[in-house]
Amino acid sequence: MKVLVTGGLGFIGSHTVVELQNEGFEVVVVDNLSNSSKDVLKGIEAITGKQPIFEEFDLRDKQKIQDFFKKYDDVTGVIHFAASKAVGESVENPLLYYENNIGVLTYILQQLEKKGGASFIFSSSCTVYGQADALPITEDAPVKPAESPYGNTKQVGEEIIRDTCKVNSDLKAIALRYFNPIGAHPSGKIGELPLGVPQNLVPFVTQTAIGLREQLLVFGNDYPTVDGTGIRDYIHVVDLAKAHVKALQRLLDDKNESNYEVFNLGTGKGSSVLEVIQSFERVSGEKLNYKIVDRRAGDVIAAYADTQKANEVLGWKAKSTLDEALKSAWEWEKNVRA
Ligand code: NAD
Ligand code: WQD
Repeated sequence: MKVLVTGGLGFIGSHTVVELQNEGFEVVVVDNLSNSSKDVLKGIEAITGKQPIFEEFDLRDKQKIQDFFKKYDDVTGVIHFAASKAVGESVENPLLYYENNIGVLTYILQQLEKKGGASFIFSSSCTVYGQADALPITEDAPVKPAESPYGNTKQVGEEIIRDTCKVNSDLKAIALRYFNPIGAHPSGKIGELPLGVPQNLVPFVTQTAIGLREQLLVFGNDYPTVDGTGIRDYIHVVDLAKAHVKALQRLLDDKNESNYEVFNLGTGKGSSVLEVIQSFERVSGEKLNYKIVDRRAGDVIAAYADTQKANEVLGWKAKSTLDEALKSAWEWEKNVRA
């Protein structure tokens, strides 16, 4: 029995491959290296002692997906990470996002439907909630109109999976709505590859601290929050990876209550941008050069997860603190630059 991990050399995918291998799964990774590097295979091997099977191709090639499922007819679990994920880029180039995040999803589901079912885990995002009306955010909080084509691909992706599961009782799926994944594997062998100017807060913090970036710009301090800066739920990527193994095992063991389920994956704790900076300075011993500037368009004020369903139903709980996650991000930054 094999598990296909699409985008498995990416940030979250590579950490999930490690946890799958730790639990004895045989993993096949498909990745086109558009936002990762083949070296990640060595990083995974340095941690687990084993490289996953690796097939390099672009999942937008429908024929290649069909050939893949013919070759690997013993794949019964799929964790689908492969996507484009830059919010700003999605506004500039929506069709790239609809093709890569929706077209590819459709091709994979068609193969699973043809196969007669499988266990399917989908990378979704708390972005589907927009600015939630109530905090912490539960899974039944309303999905708000997407602020970007990227966010829309996650909303539409969930609907496609839900509708496909409705007419395929032997296809079981779980959508995992990630909050803000940060950090790196404690071994320092894998982490978030710094390709281009980081859009996200934490890689920008570590790149500023190491001297790659001049100054961190803090997008607004006039929000109605504890210190005026935006609040998010920062979850260690290894905690997030472990949740994927739990979710896959739930489906493989037929523990699911319906054949389409949704779980929030967060710590349940919100941290402001200034709190992240203070935490980083504490764990790194570095003084961070930052400046408060205007708000960033499209940002929500605050988002953090209600984790009760994941804790009680999935049997998973995030363990790492913000300090620990930021420390691992800093160690990774230093390793990458060494
Ligand atoms: P990532 O870019 O590090 O990983 C994605 C991987 O998929 C990369 O290795 C890339 O090369 C590969 N890929 C992309 N398009 C492909 C294609 N057409 N064919 C083959 N491979 C392809 O991103 P990540 O941060 O690991 O995110 C993984 C998933 O989680 C994505 O679906 C993303 O939308 C979702 N997500 C990420 C975050 C976050 O903050 N990182 C938050 C919520 C949801
Ligand atoms: C976090 C906080 C910013 C950068 C995004 C996507 C979301 C998901 C996760 C894919 C906010 C502030 C940031 C900076 C700053 N990605 N910030 N200066 O916006 O919550 O979510 O990444 O699924 O879809 O929208 O994460 O890390 O960009 O921002 O002040 O240079 O840090 O305003 O308050 P975000 P982020």
